[in-house]
Amino acid sequence: MLSCWVIYNGSLVSDKFQDQAQLMAEAAERQGIQVSIKKNYEIQMSLSEQQPFPDFAVLLDKDILLGYFLKSRGVPVYNDPAIIDLCDNKATQYIRLAERKIPMPKTIVAPKVYPNFTIQGSGYYEGILDQLGLPMIIKEGHGSFGMKVYLIETEEQFYEKVESLSGIDYVFQEFIAESRGRDIRVNIVGEKIVAAMKRQSDTDFRANITNGGRAFPVELSEQQQQLALDAAQAVGAVFAGVDLLYGPDGQTLVCEVNAAAHIRNILNVTGVNVADAMIRYIQEDLA
Ligand SMILES: Nc1ncnc2c1ncn2[C@@H]1O[C@H](COP(=O)(O)OP(=O)(O)O)[C@@H](O)[C@H]1O
Ligand SMILES: [Mg+2]
Repeated sequence: MLSCWVIYNGSLVSDKFQDQAQLMAEAAERQGIQVSIKKNYEIQMSLSEQQPFPDFAVLLDKDILLGYFLKSRGVPVYNDPAIIDLCDNKATQYIRLAERKIPMPKTIVAPKVYPNFTIQGSGYYEGILDQLGLPMIIKEGHGSFGMKVYLIETEEQFYEKVESLSGIDYVFQEFIAESRGRDIRVNIVGEKIVAAMKRQSDTDFRANITNGGRAFPVELSEQQQQLALDAAQAVGAVFAGVDLLYGPDGQTLVCEVNAAAHIRNILNVTGVNVADAMIRYIQEDLA
């Protein structure tokens, strides 16, 4: 009998992380796998002690060091921590997506500016304003649920934001006005689309459900399907939640790839339990 750990982050207070782990655990149990749900800190990353490990681990969190630790002990980890690492920073992710020529909004990675220092007066920021115009999106490298994505409408807001982001990885991005308040989430498992929903917010430019968006089932065009699959493949994610934007002239653009995508909302909206597909994928991968 296979054994596994389903790992989530124990420091986060919201119930949704535990719920996500529960969904995965139930799917594994349905397949006769012996499951143990673990908070990340319940696995001590001792580099000097030996401890028993399961046959595989599902890492539902961004504790990338824990993923690397488990891999170093021979435990297959899904998604691979290197992939979670790449996607967890939107800047590194966009560099990869652009390298693979995935259509996405015009994006400029911000230069490293040390805290308490500034490059104002160098002309750098004026160049960004010239190229992307206003409104513009600024996105921190690390952030989920729309919380670190900002719509910048005035030069004053722009300069205030860049000053406050000293020491933080972030990107400047073209604002795709056609997609204001709406996007599409596509869940992918092992190069196959298993479910998709469109999300719409009447109150915010961000469509995230956690941020007030509502979700509906959606039929994807062939172009949208191919784009979502290409984006997941570009970053190497076998499990992916790809966000798509509605671009000009009916074009679709990639907004981001989540390597630790939540699966509760998509289950509620479409009735598809992505966890079942994930467990089946792992079983085949390990066979
Ligand atoms: N360039 C953009 N133009 C228009 N809307 C955007 C753009 N980037 C992000 N958004 C909106 O903001 C939301 C959150 O951005 P996203 O990059 O997916 O970050 P998060 O990881 O926080 O979900 C998206 O779902 C989309 O609705
Ligand atoms: Mg998103």
